[in-house]
Amino acid sequence: MAAYTWIDHTFDVVVVGAGGSGLRSALGCAQAGLKTACITKVFPTRSHTVAAQGGISAALGNMGEDKWQWHMFDTVKGSDWLGDQDAIEYLTRNAPAAVYELEHWGVPFSRTEDGKIYQRAFGGMTRNYGEAPVQRTCAAADRTGHAMLHTMYGQSLRHSVDFFIEYFALDLIMDNGVCRGVTAWKLDDGTLHRFRAQTVVLATGGYGRAYLSCTSAHTCTGDGGAMVLRAGLPLQDMEFVQFHPTGIFPAGCLITEGARGEGGYLTNANGERFMERYAPTVKDLAPRDMVSRAMTLEIREGRGVGPNKDHIFLHLDHLDPKVLHQRLPGISESAKIFAGVDVTRQPIPVLPTVHYNMGGIPTNYHGEVLTKAGADPDSVVPGLMAVGEAACVSVHGANRLGSNSLIDLVVFGRAVGLRCGEMLKAGASQPTFAANAGDEHLARFDKFRNAKGATPTAKLRDKMQRAMQDTCAVYRTGPVLAEGVQRMAQVWAEAPDVAVTDRSMIWNTDLVETMEFDNLMAQAIVTVNGAANRTESRGAHAREDFPERDDAHWMKHTLAWLDAASGAVRIDYRPVHSNTMTNEVEPIPPKKRVY
Ligand code: FUM
Repeated sequence: MAAYTWIDHTFDVVVVGAGGSGLRSALGCAQAGLKTACITKVFPTRSHTVAAQGGISAALGNMGEDKWQWHMFDTVKGSDWLGDQDAIEYLTRNAPAAVYELEHWGVPFSRTEDGKIYQRAFGGMTRNYGEAPVQRTCAAADRTGHAMLHTMYGQSLRHSVDFFIEYFALDLIMDNGVCRGVTAWKLDDGTLHRFRAQTVVLATGGYGRAYLSCTSAHTCTGDGGAMVLRAGLPLQDMEFVQFHPTGIFPAGCLITEGARGEGGYLTNANGERFMERYAPTVKDLAPRDMVSRAMTLEIREGRGVGPNKDHIFLHLDHLDPKVLHQRLPGISESAKIFAGVDVTRQPIPVLPTVHYNMGGIPTNYHGEVLTKAGADPDSVVPGLMAVGEAACVSVHGANRLGSNSLIDLVVFGRAVGLRCGEMLKAGASQPTFAANAGDEHLARFDKFRNAKGATPTAKLRDKMQRAMQDTCAVYRTGPVLAEGVQRMAQVWAEAPDVAVTDRSMIWNTDLVETMEFDNLMAQAIVTVNGAANRTESRGAHAREDFPERDDAHWMKHTLAWLDAASGAVRIDYRPVHSNTMTNEVEPIPPKKRVY
């Protein structure tokens, strides 16, 4: 192996990732007086949160009566009772304060006539326990994530978070089950770094790029989740992958659910507003899993639009152009660029597209990473936290409601800051790294850097993405999932033949993409294995061979470990927390989801 040398750093907290959850965590830790680093592979304001459009949920009640208890009910129901109710109570109870904090930091929210934060309707968000849609989603036009990210980056700088920008995180430094730090490669000068910390916070986002068609940026490769698997720890509920109903056909770019929140609707080839048949009360504002399934059925039954009857229309052409200009300028532009459509006159061609990973690194509602140790299903991994889409708290359970993602980022990012403030002492002494700390990371890095196989990374990645898209989609069956398991095992078997042609240490995008592919592959394998294993339908996991939800056997979280040598997946379970956090609300008993 080539000689590599480390540059060492010591911080109280190191946050990996500078999207909404990473920035909010780093900011909170810095506010608590902890020496905080934030390492990120892209410039912070280029993180994928920048692409979040429609808004952030919180029961502010600016557009009519609302209560956090109704938000809690909707989130539990939306999750198809796989969400942990203590964590959901924490989320919805703290949501209004988290939004006001953003407002005070300077997020330029859209406004009502009387100057309050503007809120729009979103799928599955209802008034009075399911009676009718409620306007709960706070919006900055259709660029809410963009506004939040820029504001929080400014605030993080103000609180002296130390940014390490364009550093690609390699792996966690683990010592007898305790996380002591993380290693990273600095992309612009090729140096290698070891960060020692009392706590490492993984805020690395989702792994949407495991699929061929997704709304996720190319950077969404789930690097933190893969680091956790390589550290011998499990990921949770990975079989639950959200398809957003309105990806532009065929490009896959997002058209916000806020479009339907502003009055947009879907039609099939007969011009029928078919959602009225599937969700008579909330119609086009049903949760995403239901709308995606309805669209898929319409297409399957021959009622798709277009020459090949393979997509659906989203209409905004009946809305006042002034509303479109004011509330939905971003998607009006996207529709023009990616579909050649003038939304004031023509419908947008749309198709369900991978959008979000409900599964991820298991945590409690303080952000502490959990594993199952002996009989304890909630054993905390010392020194390691996770937040945002990388984590599985689990507030989204089997299906996330739109706009519950941005609120998850800031509520749990804030929780991480609070927990670190309580648990850590600024400048506390830390054990020195063992002489060989990080050697395994270098071995992996060197193996890829010098890979001399015959198969380009892009070819392997394409095979993985097609396997996932074909076999682990909106509807699933046992035989097709078995094919997916087999196809992913084949990708794993072929991966050692990867060809990396650039051997340099500086701006080696060939090597970055290869390590990102390796990260995606690990998560794709646990996803498809988890899906094959779960023989029921719940939320986004719709098994045609097991069409019913089976609470007796399956109201439990999947935990999946990956054997790094063989690619074999081991599965175990954790109970769902059906208890609430306080006695102020009763647990919400499971029912069939009807909207
Ligand atoms: O449709 C959207 O604007 C996406 C929001 C979300 O995923 O929460």
